[in-house]
Amino acid sequence: MSKHRILILGGTTEARQLAGKLEGRTDCEVLLSLAGRTAEPMAQPVPVRSGGFGGAEGLAQFLRDNRFDLMIDATHPFAARISANAALAARQTGIPAFALRRPKWERQAEDRWTCVSSMADAVAALGASPRNVFLAIGRQEAFHFEEAPQHRYLVRSVDPVTPQLDVPQASYILASGPFDIADERKLLQDNRIDVVVAKNSGGSATYGKIAAARDLGVEIVMVERQEPADMPSVGTLTEALDRIDHWLSPEMKRGV
Ligand SMILES: NC(=O)c1ccc[n+]([C@@H]2O[C@H](COP(=O)([O-])OP(=O)(O)OC[C@H]3O[C@@H](n4cnc5c(N)ncnc54)[C@H](OP(=O)(O)O)[C@@H]3O)[C@@H](O)[C@H]2O)c1
Repeated sequence: MSKHRILILGGTTEARQLAGKLEGRTDCEVLLSLAGRTAEPMAQPVPVRSGGFGGAEGLAQFLRDNRFDLMIDATHPFAARISANAALAARQTGIPAFALRRPKWERQAEDRWTCVSSMADAVAALGASPRNVFLAIGRQEAFHFEEAPQHRYLVRSVDPVTPQLDVPQASYILASGPFDIADERKLLQDNRIDVVVAKNSGGSATYGKIAAARDLGVEIVMVERQEPADMPSVGTLTEALDRIDHWLSPEMKRGV
């Protein structure tokens, strides 16, 4: 029996978990694609390729050249460019595709969220008076906060922020999730944080800071997601596996 070839666009916990569930199956073989940004990427349960494809055209060519039968966009909800490229490449090639996108976090009654739609708006939302800011948005967009040098920043990222922020007061933590609520509460308290800047990423791995801020009555400037790329999507691993099983079913293979 020939195996169906599945390309997973990854860089997330969900992509790794999905690959783990598919690893060892006799009806499909999986390649996981990473952007190649992280210096020491986590071990993955399936073969990996790394680096950009060269836009939507490059991805379409890659899908054709390697005879993929299905593409799953399991990238981070804030990785908008690769998702847009995936949607376009799926349309161009006619190769079936769907996205695995974790649902966003919903505001609870005690949450003190200021919701904004861009990093520039997040900078403005911090206001003019100096504050102790926990920047939990990753390293790529931290530079925006150089526009507000009056604040003291604690910046957490997986890889170092280079160059470091051109602001008088910034310290850095290198860490990757999952993060525990108790540890996050301690971090906010020890650093006398009065505002957290976060992306509405969803999922449990980085929810600790949201719950900790709620417990301590700390404000969160929450950067909301943009409109998702135009692709059918599921929200959980189980739904993704159901969809793959349906797609691999004999009826689907006969084109029913
Ligand atoms: N943005 C976040 O907050 C965040 C958080 C956690 C993890 N991540 C992960 O980190 C990666 C980069 O995120 P980003 O926000 O920089 O993405 P992005 O802005 O949407 O993508 C920028 C470019 O990076 C390449 N790329 C991105 N993801 C790729 C993948 N899985 N495989 C191959 N190429 C990929 C593509 O280059 P080409 O156009 O040359 O193909 C894409 O056009 C993503 O895979 C994402 O899942 C992102």
